[in-house]
Amino acid sequence: MPTLPTLAETARALVADGKGILAADETVSTITKRLKARGIESTADSRRAYREMLFSAPDIAGLIGGVILQDETIRQDSSTGIPLVDLLAGRGIIPGIKVDAGVRPLAGSSGEVITEGLDGLRERLEEYRDLGARFAKWRAVFTIRDGQPSEWCIRANANALARYAVLCQEQGLVPIVEPEVLMDGAHALERCEEVTGRVLRGVFDELYVARVSLEGMLLKPNMAISGQDAPRKASAREVAEATLRVLMRHVPPAVPGIVFLSGGQDHVQATENLNAINQLEVQKPWKLTFSYGRALQDEALQAWQGRAENVPAGQQLFHHRAWCDSAAALGRYRG
Ligand code: 13P
Repeated sequence: MPTLPTLAETARALVADGKGILAADETVSTITKRLKARGIESTADSRRAYREMLFSAPDIAGLIGGVILQDETIRQDSSTGIPLVDLLAGRGIIPGIKVDAGVRPLAGSSGEVITEGLDGLRERLEEYRDLGARFAKWRAVFTIRDGQPSEWCIRANANALARYAVLCQEQGLVPIVEPEVLMDGAHALERCEEVTGRVLRGVFDELYVARVSLEGMLLKPNMAISGQDAPRKASAREVAEATLRVLMRHVPPAVPGIVFLSGGQDHVQATENLNAINQLEVQKPWKLTFSYGRALQDEALQAWQGRAENVPAGQQLFHHRAWCDSAAALGRYRG
């Protein structure tokens, strides 16, 4: 029996130089909205065809270290009858799985949400590991409003993230811990930085209490960025400075990698901000790379249109964006 890599080895492999993660873990309802918005019918087969286009794109294995799948995809076979998980693993791309069950209203708060999915999680992790997953993802969501996120919302979500992370490590999976402060709102960059700091502090407190191995996990945060409706949008350099300042204050250097979400930034902005972060000449004890969903997929999805004849065009656009983001993860993107 070959021995499996350790958690720390898997975490480091996911963020090896110039590599990031493709988040292709949209739930059936989310991917259905994205397909329908482009006039594409959403069926188990069209969703499989779309994901297979991305996973089998030529020459991506040097750019994409891992792919996050969701429950439907991890059980699907490719058009040639190979499980999609094996297609990825065979190319040296590590398969992962989204395991949270989405958000519900948080009792005791007005308008805030809690991520659910802890019930039965040990057994689900066991099953996903047997299906080939080597890492997992759980997303907590925080919205910036007057007086929010509340301390209660931060603590409740941070505690759930810690319970998830420690269960993953018990089951031999690397947890990606994703606390997302949403871009929604008209707040300035400084407010996002402040909230992101409070959230990260709460999350690492709970991870510490739960004795999560920091070496065997990855953090997936938002960048510190202006709100979507802010009258003035901070520049890439300002985003980079604020993001690194808040991460330096709250993320222990034992964490091997920070993999940003794109969170609604368009694909060029997501590339440029990541590049600016890596170009900044300050201390950076972790790898800083991408775990993008929309920013990596949007161009390819647009080109595909649900038609087999467009697969090469979709793959080429996906490869190009992954190549740009890979360069940005090294601070070498040149527009
Ligand atoms: P976006 O990059 O589209 O924000 O998706 C990343 C993700 O995994 C959200 O949970």
